[in-house]
Amino acid sequence: MRLTYTKEAQSTECRARAATIKTRRGEIKTPIFMPVGTVGSVKAVSVEDLEEAGAQIILGNTYHLYLRPGTEVLDVFGGLHDFMKWKHPILTDSGGFQFFSLAKLTKRTEEGVSFQSHIDGSRHVFTPERSIEVQNHIDSDIMMCLDECTPYPSDHRATKESMELTTRWAQRCFDFWQQETDLRNNAFGIVQGGMYKDLRSASVEQICGIDFPGYSIGGLSVGEPKELMMEMGEHTLALMPEEKPRYIMGVGTPSDIVELVMMGADMFDCVMPSRNARNGKLFTSEGALNIANQRYRKDEKPLDPVCTCYTCRNYSRAYLRHLYKSKELLAYRLNTIHNLHYYMNLVGEIRQAIMEDRFMAWRKGFYAAMEGGIQ
Ligand code: GUN
Ligand code: ZN
Repeated sequence: MRLTYTKEAQSTECRARAATIKTRRGEIKTPIFMPVGTVGSVKAVSVEDLEEAGAQIILGNTYHLYLRPGTEVLDVFGGLHDFMKWKHPILTDSGGFQFFSLAKLTKRTEEGVSFQSHIDGSRHVFTPERSIEVQNHIDSDIMMCLDECTPYPSDHRATKESMELTTRWAQRCFDFWQQETDLRNNAFGIVQGGMYKDLRSASVEQICGIDFPGYSIGGLSVGEPKELMMEMGEHTLALMPEEKPRYIMGVGTPSDIVELVMMGADMFDCVMPSRNARNGKLFTSEGALNIANQRYRKDEKPLDPVCTCYTCRNYSRAYLRHLYKSKELLAYRLNTIHNLHYYMNLVGEIRQAIMEDRFMAWRKGFYAAMEGGIQ
């Protein structure tokens, strides 16, 4: 089923918008944050924990799932949903990004990418067609095109060449999706173009010229300064079609999300809430804190007084600090539950503010609360 994007509200002060995306596995209310479940599990938490946090859609990674457990195992369960017992939509990244960050001896040609597994060293070849085929085995509701995430920094000439390869691969993904699959799932195109506005514009023209049900922006948060990321995001979002979802890949901090929503983005994913949780960095309405800090040794208060998550309803900062310092496994679960709850609550508040056309006032309050912050 081709997903539908129905806009429910448009801010009168900025480009922020709220919408409902309908897929065959349910609705997604935007703006939305998608927790990252790389190998078919959001690290340290159960699907019940995810539902409780308000997650509506989660991410999986084609590269990881293809290597382990592999499509043969997934086929037994008819895909990832039944395997991991997550009933709601799943989006999978194509592998384009992971080849370069994880795999060894990666070689890119016009045809595709050959790489060596980071698990057992075995050699594999991924083409745009194969990536969509594997994502169909995973049975993800939103499949991403195979792309090349241009490294930072790259000169104009290399960036242009890389961006144009991503366009040719996107067309091949689209053709395979249209001609060789039953179209029960959706495919999104990925805009690249590095840190060059003219290349970002050209990429939008090329990628959004292909009739995908939604589009994403890749190649951001790859080591560039924050202002440059925002400049590229704003420039690119403004050129993308109004009537389809806009997804920013791999971004970001709470304030990154606030700023990019203001510029017209609908969907986000990032390992930050879950990874930071495992490193003791916890988000609160008053800013981030490090739970290992000595100052919390006898602190009886909940992590975040305004948070309604299971962790904040039941435990003190002192206990969370103790668990973390003792490397107790429960620390990972409780911290992850809280951070995911924080991110889901953040996008929920953003959505509510857009629906009531008070997003800019909400944003001001968000930054004001952070300033009086804990750290
Ligand atoms: N995740 C974060 N950035 C990117 C990107 O540029 N491409 C893909 N496929 N995934 C990403
Ligand atoms: Zn909490």
